[in-house]
Amino acid sequence: MSHHQAAAKMSALFMRQVSPRFFSAPVNRTAHVSTTMLRPAFWVRNFSGLAPEEKKESSDVKQSNKAIVSSYWGISPSTVTNEDGSAWKWNCFRPWETYQADLSIDVKKHHNPVKFMDKFAYWTVQALKVPVTLFFQRRHMCHAMLLETVAAVPGMVGGMLLHLKSLRKFEHSGGWIKALLEEAENERMHLMTFLEIAHPQWYERAIIFAVQGVFFNAYFVAYIASPKLAHRIVGYLEEEAVISYTEFLKDLDNGTMENVPAPAIAIDYWRLPADSTLRDVVIVIRADEAHHRDLNHYASDIQCQGHELKDAPAPIGYH
Ligand SMILES: [Fe+2]
Ligand SMILES: [Fe+2]
Repeated sequence: MSHHQAAAKMSALFMRQVSPRFFSAPVNRTAHVSTTMLRPAFWVRNFSGLAPEEKKESSDVKQSNKAIVSSYWGISPSTVTNEDGSAWKWNCFRPWETYQADLSIDVKKHHNPVKFMDKFAYWTVQALKVPVTLFFQRRHMCHAMLLETVAAVPGMVGGMLLHLKSLRKFEHSGGWIKALLEEAENERMHLMTFLEIAHPQWYERAIIFAVQGVFFNAYFVAYIASPKLAHRIVGYLEEEAVISYTEFLKDLDNGTMENVPAPAIAIDYWRLPADSTLRDVVIVIRADEAHHRDLNHYASDIQCQGHELKDAPAPIGYH
């Protein structure tokens, strides 16, 4: 492949990543989800960057194959129901993954950096915070949406590396793989929730594309070099997340931001009352962040005290 071809391929890949919403009409996501119930509409969602003819062809092919595919592999569409017997609305999470957030958690807790490593982690986070605060200022919605795309990375990287370590060393994980993957999934649900209210612009997609490339690799290297440092950094990042959601709440309370009704996905995921608002959602998300803060500082403490993560049972389902 010539340099020219490679460059063209890279820019096509990049445009596909950042363009779907920019080049296609906005989609009502709530309506979109209910379409998913009636037919396998994943194609529509995943390939929303394709030209209309291609889009039509993909879903037609999928529909005509549906019966054959299901009967051959023995996998039939999900039959999950609510407690009242009605059909479960979501494919992206199931009733057993939902929970009621523990709001009694202390949102003011702070790990006091004493050792050099802790100070290094603390100041790394403070340094990262400067450009982020300058960029977003009080645009909380935008801030939350973009930051959640980053927040869901460490759990996945840590979980993956512990998974590989378990395979490589023929040893148990103490449940930490699952705990970290749960954290990543929970952060991704925060993102899915904010997407119902805010819609990323093309330049925001471009920023995320670049930031993900850098952050994934930086965290991957950091976790290999020093898992306790990596967890400490995440602990401090989560402390900042708690602070920024507290600021979000202040602006909802003083009327600077409109307290819109809670998205349906949030009501089902956190088992919130039907009349909940964005404020209720931000409160449960902040509680999640406080749990991640504690889990990551704890993971760092275990290792700072000379133990391995697998020696302490992981807090699974810790919300
Ligand atoms: Fe989050
Ligand atoms: Fe978080």
